Amino acid sequence: MVNLSLMCLGLLSLWGVRGEVAPNFNHCKKFFFRQTPVSGLNIALPTPVETKTQKLVNPKKCLSAYNAASPAYICQIYNNQYYFATLYDRGRRIPLYSAYKMDIKGEPERNGSIVNYEPQLVHPGLAKNQMKKKECLTEIKNYNKNQSNDCKESFPQYRQTYKLSWSQALNDDFGTYTRGHLNPAGHHGKGDASQATMTFTNVAPQNPTMNQVQWNQYEQKLKNDLSQGCSNMYVVTGVVPSTTWVDQNQRVNVPSHYWNAFCCTDNNDKPLRSGGALCPNTDEGVVTEYNTVADLQNVLGNDMSFGSNFNIFFNRCQI
Ligand SMILES: *[C@@H]1O[C@H](CO)[C@@H](O)[C@H](O)[C@H]1NC(C)=O
Ligand SMILES: *[C@@H]1O[C@H](CO)[C@@H](O)[C@H](O)[C@H]1NC(C)=O
Repeated sequence: MVNLSLMCLGLLSLWGVRGEVAPNFNHCKKFFFRQTPVSGLNIALPTPVETKTQKLVNPKKCLSAYNAASPAYICQIYNNQYYFATLYDRGRRIPLYSAYKMDIKGEPERNGSIVNYEPQLVHPGLAKNQMKKKECLTEIKNYNKNQSNDCKESFPQYRQTYKLSWSQALNDDFGTYTRGHLNPAGHHGKGDASQATMTFTNVAPQNPTMNQVQWNQYEQKLKNDLSQGCSNMYVVTGVVPSTTWVDQNQRVNVPSHYWNAFCCTDNNDKPLRSGGALCPNTDEGVVTEYNTVADLQNVLGNDMSFGSNFNIFFNRCQI
């Protein structure tokens, strides 16, 4: 009995610390068609490595994202609930894609701005909820304090803002670009579901015109036309990284394109329709639509170097 309850305690505490940044999407497979995550996308850059480590006490424990795997698999949690999944490129500090189920009937709400950050990109043991900057910094402060005086903030590398900005893009990292949603707030109902999209791990630098005009029109078409008659609408929206960066320090990458794939199914989750789109991230970028996911995958695989193992949906959501 004693052993059993000890074991339970052990399991519980494992359960407790398991977070949303994990080695895979096992905790949020439900956001993918047939619970099958996107596969074969091996284009992320490695996590940046701090070079100035002389004199630092316990860098292994105290540096932000020390030895962290890239990409990071984020099961997005807001107010203790899972809302969608994001594959995050730590080297480029942008998401490669976000996967979600559209709220087909939900009334769109687009208030507020991008305010949340992902604490677990800094240290895997931090809180699993997305948080506003101030709360995130407090998390980091408490973590630093907890490490028996090792992570002293007299080391610039251990300071709260430095550690947060090491692990992800901050609000002032976007230059003249907009903070372009991958998973858009407008595909979800009011309240927490749309607020959960307001996180820096779900946005990339997007050309302002392309964001407000061409891509916005396509997002509305997805919601208003392409989801007609579907019981479920699985959506994956991603970007194609480029060799352009917002700033000279190459902190945050500017994607060359945004892409989208959708899989519309009936109430038995049988595919009814599928397709996708691709648009250059420029003023004049034109949205090209695809009637099959296979066609989109061929373009991304061959012309955009995603590779031949890249697969968005189980069996390509073939009807
Ligand atoms: C958005 O609007 C809802 C109600 O309309 C409100 O409860 C919520 O606080 C707003 N969110 C932001 C970030 O302003
Ligand atoms: C710091 O330690 C306290 C007490 O053990 C704990 O409750 C808290 O979650 C820790 N915070 C962080 C960010 O590690």
